[in-house]
Amino acid sequence: MSCMTVSPAPSVEPLPLEGDILQQRAWRMPDLVVYRHGDDEWRVAPLDEDLPLVRLNRMGAALLGAMDGRLTIAALLDQFGTWLCGPNKETGRWFLERWSLPRYSLCYFGTDPPTGHNVHAKWDLLLQKVRDQWHENAPVEHEGHLTQFHHRGIQSHHGHFEIVETTVSHLLREPCDALRGLSYGRAIAQTIRRHGWWNPKPQRIVEVGAGLGYLSREMAQELSPLERRGVDYIFLDLTRPFLQSQLELAGQAGWNARALHANAEHLPFADASVDLVIDNENLADMTPVTLSREELETSRGRTPDHQRSLDRIRTFRLTPDTPYPQEAIFNEGAMRFLTELWRVLTPGGHALLIEFGIDTGWPDPVRLPGHTEYEVQFTHLRHAARWLGFREHYGALPQFLPIQRDAQVLCTGATYAIRRLREAEGHAFAVRAYTESELRRALGTTLSRLTGLHYHHILDPAWFSLWDFKVLLLEKPGGAPRPAYREAQGFRWYSQR
Ligand SMILES: C[S@@+](CC[C@H](N)C(=O)[O-])C[C@H]1O[C@@H](n2cnc3c(N)ncnc32)[C@H](O)[C@@H]1O
Repeated sequence: MSCMTVSPAPSVEPLPLEGDILQQRAWRMPDLVVYRHGDDEWRVAPLDEDLPLVRLNRMGAALLGAMDGRLTIAALLDQFGTWLCGPNKETGRWFLERWSLPRYSLCYFGTDPPTGHNVHAKWDLLLQKVRDQWHENAPVEHEGHLTQFHHRGIQSHHGHFEIVETTVSHLLREPCDALRGLSYGRAIAQTIRRHGWWNPKPQRIVEVGAGLGYLSREMAQELSPLERRGVDYIFLDLTRPFLQSQLELAGQAGWNARALHANAEHLPFADASVDLVIDNENLADMTPVTLSREELETSRGRTPDHQRSLDRIRTFRLTPDTPYPQEAIFNEGAMRFLTELWRVLTPGGHALLIEFGIDTGWPDPVRLPGHTEYEVQFTHLRHAARWLGFREHYGALPQFLPIQRDAQVLCTGATYAIRRLREAEGHAFAVRAYTESELRRALGTTLSRLTGLHYHHILDPAWFSLWDFKVLLLEKPGGAPRPAYREAQGFRWYSQR
């Protein structure tokens, strides 16, 4: 990216600075990262990736600094309005007309700060509203939009997990302090081993929706070449450009890997032919069906697809929460996938499913740039799994990862901002879960040019809501009885399972 991209975007509607607004006060975003680019240039990144970076001169930086809730807009206009505040000759007025939510989202104008007890005016809720507004003018998303998005909406894997959607596994993809020196993939491999899923070794593994493929690369680090020998590792993904990266990383790691361009809701495998399925942070991408209250009450669907979902609810004997809302989302795609898992897994085969979700109520949509995902209703999914015959084990993701519980990690908003600010100067910066010392190592002396960085406890919901991510471990009964042993005081204690 060149510095040319930091010129102001003409398309942003200016806010008329008149009437009541003049008596309001201005608060800059609490986690706003300010980067000192040169002797007389500071830069900040708007929340919306489509807007260019904002460049400020000393006067502009002073205007930003003055937005601490003490001065009214009238006073700010008086003090900065006519002065040049940016190198592109923008005046203070020009910036004041554009910076507040939801435009550049650099500050908030109001009578009280958006913290307090007023639930409608907390920063995180305001930012969520901004994200929702990006979708307001988008065409209504139909039930097949996620399939279309993955088929056609993603042209390249470059930057996808840094800009469009970040996953837990992407943030923790490299060995990191937050996982006590492990990577996410390695920690997952340990979980698999701990549950005895590598004993006997799976002959055929399918990783569904592997994104860039880091999980397979890192899992390989945990397993010996002997343990990997002869294993057929298959990537299955709806997004063709991701498959290339998956094969590349798996090849480097020494897996005997191949790739299938397919939809996990209809697995292209024979019955009882797969020993292990891994599906990390993908269920929320599967097809949602929006059922009306009337459909739920009468069990009569207005389309064949809706009827299938209603039949599934009845067959699996799900007991959805009542009273029914006007419209309710059902994780139809995830249910189809689960049914397919039951079909393709060998007796004794396993599946590891990880995704954000809920245990009660109906799923909410989650707005992301360019598409919407849906929380997974895990009580429904688990109920269906048991109905199919699976043995299941369930918990929240932090219970399955060796998380360094007192680790403090950089706010993800700050990480995105630093990536943009560094890229504008021609330097790469990876979006990851940085502790302070990791960030110092990554940025070196550049760190001293950044202000506004703040860190969260890794398990604080304000960081990445890790408790909302759930792990569902499934076993299809019927595998050959295998000796299980535990080691204690130098002895192996065997039992038959
Ligand atoms: C949010 S990404 C997660 C990627 C990766 N597992 C990670 O944790 O970073 C979802 C992945 O699932 C793929 N995907 C989405 N819907 C799918 C479907 N119905 N069938 C197969 N793959 C799908 C996407 O292309 C992408 O690779």
